[in-house]
Amino acid sequence: MNLGRISLLGAIAILGATTATGLMAHGNVTPQAVDTSALPDIGEEWLAKNPYSGNAKAIEIGQSAYGQNCARCHGLDAESGGIAPDLRYLEQGESGDQWFVERFRHGSSHDGKVYMPPFGDVLGQKAGWAIRAWLETKFQG
Ligand code: HEC
Repeated sequence: MNLGRISLLGAIAILGATTATGLMAHGNVTPQAVDTSALPDIGEEWLAKNPYSGNAKAIEIGQSAYGQNCARCHGLDAESGGIAPDLRYLEQGESGDQWFVERFRHGSSHDGKVYMPPFGDVLGQKAGWAIRAWLETKFQG
């Protein structure tokens, strides 16, 4: 069964049903809270580098947080169905971390449309870095 194709068809159906507002409506889905209490505290200030890289607990939390908040656009198990970039190809290391956190915090909007909603304030940086830690395990060179 080709799940990527099914989720792409689902996304097209959603877009078709909301043509007037298009991607705007697509970008307005409520974020799902993530329990990060099991992870070490990293303060309020946003870090430039993933503090949870390789942390097994963070990877587990990140996988579930990704499934609830990112998979509908970026694809199940991070395999993109085509509507949003395939995050398995995101650069490893610090420059990849910085690009990841930029998008996670602020999302992406242009020409008056929300392509990706911001997650920084709603989910917090512990959840963001946990998702990044899980994505690192999915990296495709
Ligand atoms: C409503 C759909 C949607 C959701 C939900 C979403 N994204 Fe995105 N994301 C996009 C789109 C579309 C882009 C491309 C934006 C652009 O190029 O302007 C993108 C880009 C990105 C990028 C940059 C990728 C690159 O190669 O440049 C990252 C990192 C990212 N998203 C992470 C996430 C994470 C983590 C989540 C969940 C917390 C998430 N996204 C949820 C649609 C979404």
